[in-house]
Amino acid sequence: MISVRIADRKCEAHNILSFELVSVTGEALPPFSAGSHIDIHLPGGLIRQYSLYNGSHAEHSYKIAVLLAPEGRGGSSAMHQLQIGQELNISEPRNLFPLSHEAKKTLLFAGGIGITPILSMAERLSHIGAEFELHYYSRSWEHAAFAEKLKSGSLADRVNLYFDSEPDNKPDLALMLANRNSDEHLFVCGPNGFMNFVLDSARNAGWAEDQLHREYFANEVGDTDANQSFEITIASTQQILSVPAERSILQVLMENDIEIPYSCEQGVCGTCLVRVLEGTPDHRDLYLSPSERSANDQILTCCSRAHGKKLVLDI
Ligand code: FES
Repeated sequence: MISVRIADRKCEAHNILSFELVSVTGEALPPFSAGSHIDIHLPGGLIRQYSLYNGSHAEHSYKIAVLLAPEGRGGSSAMHQLQIGQELNISEPRNLFPLSHEAKKTLLFAGGIGITPILSMAERLSHIGAEFELHYYSRSWEHAAFAEKLKSGSLADRVNLYFDSEPDNKPDLALMLANRNSDEHLFVCGPNGFMNFVLDSARNAGWAEDQLHREYFANEVGDTDANQSFEITIASTQQILSVPAERSILQVLMENDIEIPYSCEQGVCGTCLVRVLEGTPDHRDLYLSPSERSANDQILTCCSRAHGKKLVLDI
């Protein structure tokens, strides 16, 4: 855990605040790579993940931006109440959305507040002189955080901005993604519908799954009424635990003092992953790729369940 102080707090766009976090002791913060996020421990006990948007060559601060989601689970409202000078605990940066070093060219797609990890990636690619394009979709200029910086700064000639308020300005994605080389990689972050649209367009244009990279913010909770109970076996001890319809595997593990790391509890971050030795998972996360899902040998315990009555977990 790292103790930080809010050194700056700014309005970046409609309902979007940015925060600059510096070490309480004044020391350099641990290094990070583009696409990393940190866990923020909020007053009141909530833990939320936010992507770092500054360039990864920055040493003395972490920068995050938070969209207020009044209908959300309370994290963004708590963040928006924080003030300059306040102290917080955060985790070290973790990267579940790293750039590909094999890419000869990188296409970056951001929807709304999904610009945060994408901006850090653009800064990094620009810093090392790599080839990239940034396509940023937002509702309007007023809703687009960092639009001014992107259009007037050193990244300007690589950035394309598209606004819902100017529908005639939207590109034909199928055309944009057609006839690309197999050494190009695509990274997308934003609302789930936006990401699925970009990823499906790429797949339809012939992109291979290993060229596609995404980071989801939140998992839409599906209909849980049809959930069934099932059993899990802890392979190391042969202990058998029942997972009722209304509890997650992770909750049952914690209630039985079996500790595994977790963070988002929404199937987004990948922290609670465990290997499956027997049984078929009912994957409900947004983290595993289609090929990882079909291998059925790992499961995100915070949200996924079982097809059938039993799973044996490699714990
Ligand atoms: Fe983040 Fe499970 S805790 S995916």
